[in-house]
Amino acid sequence: MQDTPQVVVLRLGHRPGRDERMTTHVGLTARALGADRLVLANDAASRAETVVDITDTFGGPFDVETTNQPMARLKRWEGTIVHLTMYGLPVQDVESEIRERHRDGDPLLVVVGAEKVPWDVYDAAEYNVGVTNQPHSEVASLAVFLDHLFEGTELDRQWEDAQKRVIPQAEGKQVEEQ
Ligand SMILES: C[S@@+](CC[C@H](N)C(=O)[O-])C[C@H]1O[C@@H](n2cnc3c(N)ncnc32)[C@H](O)[C@@H]1O
Repeated sequence: MQDTPQVVVLRLGHRPGRDERMTTHVGLTARALGADRLVLANDAASRAETVVDITDTFGGPFDVETTNQPMARLKRWEGTIVHLTMYGLPVQDVESEIRERHRDGDPLLVVVGAEKVPWDVYDAAEYNVGVTNQPHSEVASLAVFLDHLFEGTELDRQWEDAQKRVIPQAEGKQVEEQ
């Protein structure tokens, strides 16, 4: 995963109070399932510290960035933009094309919303992608999308600079201090 171009997740539309856990979970899912960086826009920036703390504890590399100008960030992105939306094309129909662009060197910006996403995002995205065309959640759609993008290889990712490592157990819990 280290030699491939970056996969960056942009979280738009955080509603203070209501979306705290959801935004955190977008970040943790992005990290756990193979993205390289999280961009938290506007009010979502309040969750940055939690995601950084988890990365410090359980390893990286994974970067967290905040911005007050998400649309500018989106418009100057040099690479492919994927917007996850229930209105988009089925992931199973476009994933191989997106994967190929990524493997050919295009950094990927994956955008997820919370409330209504501005129309500009649909326009700016090369791919508006649905994980089914049913309403569900940004966390679920991000997880499925990343897993399809990486074809499951993200599950074997090695973590660096972790303070703690979970030792898989058939029963119970084991955590090793590094
Ligand atoms: C509460 S939903 C809002 C649903 C929104 N009407 C939409 O465009 O998908 C919040 C976010 O979850 C993601 N999402 C929800 N359902 C999805 C689906 N079926 N496919 C892809 N993304 C989805 C989108 O990123 C959306 O902005």
